[in-house]
Amino acid sequence: MNKSIAILGAQWGDEGKGKIVDLLTEKSEAVVRFQGGHNAGHTIVVENKKTILHLIPSGILHNDVKCIIGNGVVLSLDALSDEIEVLQKNNIDVNGRLFISDNCPLILPVHIALDQAREQKKGKEKIGTTGRGIGPAYEDKISRRGIRFGDLANQQNLHEKLKELLEYHNFILKNYYNCEIFDIEETYQNLLSHYDVYKNYLIDAPLYIEQLFLNNKKIVFEGAQGSLLDIDHGTYPFVTSSNTTIGGIFTGSGISPKRVDYTLAIVKAYTTRVGSGPFVTELFDENGKILSERGHEFGATTGRERRCGWLDLVALKRSIIINGFTGICLTKLDVLDTFPKIKVCIEYKDNKPIYKEYEGWQKSLSGIKKYSDLPDKAKIYIKDIENFLEIPIDIISNGPGREENIIINKFF
Ligand code: IMP
Repeated sequence: MNKSIAILGAQWGDEGKGKIVDLLTEKSEAVVRFQGGHNAGHTIVVENKKTILHLIPSGILHNDVKCIIGNGVVLSLDALSDEIEVLQKNNIDVNGRLFISDNCPLILPVHIALDQAREQKKGKEKIGTTGRGIGPAYEDKISRRGIRFGDLANQQNLHEKLKELLEYHNFILKNYYNCEIFDIEETYQNLLSHYDVYKNYLIDAPLYIEQLFLNNKKIVFEGAQGSLLDIDHGTYPFVTSSNTTIGGIFTGSGISPKRVDYTLAIVKAYTTRVGSGPFVTELFDENGKILSERGHEFGATTGRERRCGWLDLVALKRSIIINGFTGICLTKLDVLDTFPKIKVCIEYKDNKPIYKEYEGWQKSLSGIKKYSDLPDKAKIYIKDIENFLEIPIDIISNGPGREENIIINKFF
């Protein structure tokens, strides 16, 4: 059995990773997030109760699982504090279970203001970001201007760094965007007060994770967003600012590529996207509306309506090549239950989709636990996807609940 697995979105995010991470972390001792920030929205339903996590790894709902935020994550301490509060209200204690890399770059309020000011200025050309400051925080990391979680330990240095950072951004905010500027002392005090609360969470993540491996612990690496939003390999410039593909695990947590035994692609049985950018199979007709309604396709972070379309195997094939996935978890298959015809894109011609059409099964898949119990028409759809992508579908998710799955291959 595999000791460590990676779970990555293979489309534009919102494939249903949160649910699957939650399901598979039940068998693990630790879960690691390695990129993105609180732009993510991982929805988990346990006993009809919905929890949406943005920053804290989805394993937190299992009492004895350690949750690690790796250096590749951009960390908003305000968002962390809000999320911990929500969890605590639901009797989930994070103390002694949540660990944060000292190298995490911080998202400051100024980054959020910059993100939003830019989007506003771009008008119709906007990226459609979540407005959480993700891009500006990563830019500061790369420019070596950023402040990292571990920097909060040294107050003197912190003040100097913060002054330099805010003077730079305040100039742009005031003179270019005509926006409010940020007070150095106020930001400084806010950071220190957070540090007081969260300093015990600080770890040297690569060594901490290595120790878990040496102690034979089972580990899940939890991706956020999806491959097509990758800063290098996605639909640039309509992407997020991190590596959502496989390489992000290694740079974003400090482990060796040899450590990941199995990589699971989370693939929604159709396609959605939030924000701007190309989307070859997007539907503007009644079918798109049905997908949106049956799939409850509204952003978990921003509440925005997601754009919906048929499954795009051309884009997926590319994701599979880049990530080298071992297997697939096909999610939200039940959303297709009512369609008399279902289409799948198998080729692009002049940037337009060429579809293969399938007969819909027009039966409820809800409650099915075994592959053999699926309607034949659903099996044809599933087998064709496997054949085209040339990797096995190991799990099918047929409902939002933790238990609503068909496990075809137990790999963890
Ligand atoms: P940012 O990550 O907020 O900078 O947004 C950049 C793009 O990534 C926008 O199109 C967002 O809608 C998209 N995005 C960011 N996070 C998520 C997510 O968790 N699910 C789906 N799309 C996302």
